[in-house]
Amino acid sequence: MRQPLVAGNWKMHKTPSAALEFFDGLVASTAEPSGVDVWLFPAYPALPGLAARAAESWIKVGAQNLHEADDGAFTGEVSALMLTEAGAAGVLVGHSERRHVFGESDDRIRAKFHQAIRYGLLPVLCVGETLDERDQGRGSDVVLGQIERVLADAPSPSGDAFVIAYEPVWAIGTGHTATPDQAREMHAEIRSALTPFLNEEAQRVRLLYGGSVKPTNAADLLNQPDVDGALVGGASLEPDTFLPIVQAAGRTP
Ligand code: PGA
Repeated sequence: MRQPLVAGNWKMHKTPSAALEFFDGLVASTAEPSGVDVWLFPAYPALPGLAARAAESWIKVGAQNLHEADDGAFTGEVSALMLTEAGAAGVLVGHSERRHVFGESDDRIRAKFHQAIRYGLLPVLCVGETLDERDQGRGSDVVLGQIERVLADAPSPSGDAFVIAYEPVWAIGTGHTATPDQAREMHAEIRSALTPFLNEEAQRVRLLYGGSVKPTNAADLLNQPDVDGALVGGASLEPDTFLPIVQAAGRTP
């Protein structure tokens, strides 16, 4: 049985004080939602304060990126050890903005993924195809290739050591959401592609959908088999839009 997970990716939004304001607003507006894990991924400066405030709560906190080296001359970068000391319990890896805006390659994403696991951070591996790739009928090849290149030739992690977020690039921040059928089909393909690497552990990997998830479409997406939660950008910025998505995940079978 996979416990659903709903994560808010705040991207380059929210100062440290705005992050705490969100947290206080969220916990004041609800009791602990049952049957769902809730994560927030703030920008680095907000991470230590938010993690400290969330430590005794039902909310877990992660980072949006990490560097793959232990330490070194990498100006502007942040290591896994720095993140764990700052209170992060997880980290996004390979978000489409990292791939497409900052040019991160599959090789680097693979190194980051394994670095996160080495340091006990839960990596949320983000994958997704562009609209051109989907239109050319290459959507699943691209997505499965992104996953296979991360898992190949590495010790196979257990099914709860990482999470995958399927985020079609054409749906991120655009208001265009994949239909529940499109999400179901891709998630089923991802689950099958995990089996050669993880055997029966593939059944335990949580597969999140991301890309313009909103209170109005969350339940339909989350009701699909193999959709085990959501990675939420824009709608995670306010408790009023984030909480209904969390509640929809908690209610799905
Ligand atoms: P969005 O972002 O919900 O604003 O589309 C999702 C993401 O980038 O993780």
